[in-house]
Amino acid sequence: MPILNSVYRHREFQDVATLAGYERAGGWNGLKATLEMTPDDALYAFHRSGLRGRGGAGFPMGRKASFLPKDTGRKTYVVCNADESEPGTFKDREIIEKNPFQLIEGVIIASYAVGCERAYIYIRGEYGKQAEILAGAIAECREAGRLGPDALGPGKPFDITLYRGAGAYICGEETALLESLEGKRGQPRLKPPFPAVAGLYGSPTLINNVETLSALPPIMHRGADWYAALGPEKSPGTKIFSVSGHVLNPGNFEIVMGETTLRELIYDMAGGLREGRELKACWPGGSSVPILTNEHLDVPLDYESLNGVGTFLGSGGCIVMDDSGCIVRASWRLAHFYRHESCGKCTPCREGTGWLEKILGRIVHGEGRMEDVEMLESLFGRISGRTLCALADGAVAPVKSAVEYFRDDFVAAIENGGCPVPEPMGVTGG
Ligand SMILES: Cc1cc2nc3c(=O)[nH]c(=O)nc-3n(C[C@H](O)[C@H](O)[C@H](O)COP(=O)(O)O)c2cc1C
Ligand code: SF4
Repeated sequence: MPILNSVYRHREFQDVATLAGYERAGGWNGLKATLEMTPDDALYAFHRSGLRGRGGAGFPMGRKASFLPKDTGRKTYVVCNADESEPGTFKDREIIEKNPFQLIEGVIIASYAVGCERAYIYIRGEYGKQAEILAGAIAECREAGRLGPDALGPGKPFDITLYRGAGAYICGEETALLESLEGKRGQPRLKPPFPAVAGLYGSPTLINNVETLSALPPIMHRGADWYAALGPEKSPGTKIFSVSGHVLNPGNFEIVMGETTLRELIYDMAGGLREGRELKACWPGGSSVPILTNEHLDVPLDYESLNGVGTFLGSGGCIVMDDSGCIVRASWRLAHFYRHESCGKCTPCREGTGWLEKILGRIVHGEGRMEDVEMLESLFGRISGRTLCALADGAVAPVKSAVEYFRDDFVAAIENGGCPVPEPMGVTGG
């Protein structure tokens, strides 16, 4: 099976969560190689590797880093997005917990390339234990001189500040994250300007996900060409998928892009479904993407192949539901989440997510009306693509695709007085 633990070094080597263990496992070789290059050559290596952002949007990392203007007279910042709030996604947590020095090394490499002397790691509020581990690793690096006044060579300072969020999904959106980091209310900014030009405190800022930055040390050590040759040309490298839901062996799996199918991920790696069960639906890239069904099991896992079947790779949070689940209830639960997490700045999102939740809720609870499915369909287009950030699109995508694939289930729930699956214990909804 094409597993390659490039970011998950801790699965190949012991003790990498200690500085000494990380060094024994080949840690800092990527940084060493980077410091022998000019910053521009390092940027070019990022670009040649073909690495794409692993936080959700899949934007080419090297291209984004090259957008940062130079010689502006302002400081340049690198910000690591460790908010990891997308439902079904828990890959960054494992990096931070088990392999924190690789993330730190990646942050230093990116910072060297864009000329940043102070980077920030914004970690979600709920990750208390992980924040402690990361703070300990940062402190160890300072003690060892890997961070501090001579981190990048004599007289060349560099340091990292760890900042804890307060548990809002929207603060994973990069501009809301910056607002929060500046001590303001976490709401997305109007773009452009993009953070690369005017980010933290109005300065050029590179924002990348934990997994993206953690991919840099092996890229710089083994070479951009090595990475670019892994998997398809437009989607190279390794990607971690978090598999959860109705599988027997949930967990994180780092695979070579394009060399594993959804079937292999669910059935071979994640242990498959319970006896006698079939796949009903799967959200392959976190809860914000269109669903896939049993007919899509042979799709290879990479950006283009997933786009080809109408969905996205997203964050790689693969949520699995077997045929004992109810797609109507699942859609309602997600609608509840997005309504709750909407920051309320844009009317289509603030009002639209409320309507989605309300209509789905009444269908689930036996109060649906025959016109409700059409009303849902008319809502989708009034929300998607009309807002400041992608939260609203993410609220619509799973529900819209569920209605497309399983319209009959929605109609049946209306006709039969509600959802056939009983209310799980402790769920009150709305
Ligand atoms: C509502 C919303 C939530 C997001 N949450 C996260 C998150 O938790 N972690 C993350 O890395 N990116 C998240 N993103 C994506 C970021 O805005 C941004 O694209 C990402 O941090 C860029 O890093 P990357 O290029 O390395 O993926 C979110 C986007 C949206 C619209
Ligand atoms: S789309 Fe929703 S979450 Fe995003 S800025 Fe608008 S109201 Fe806020």
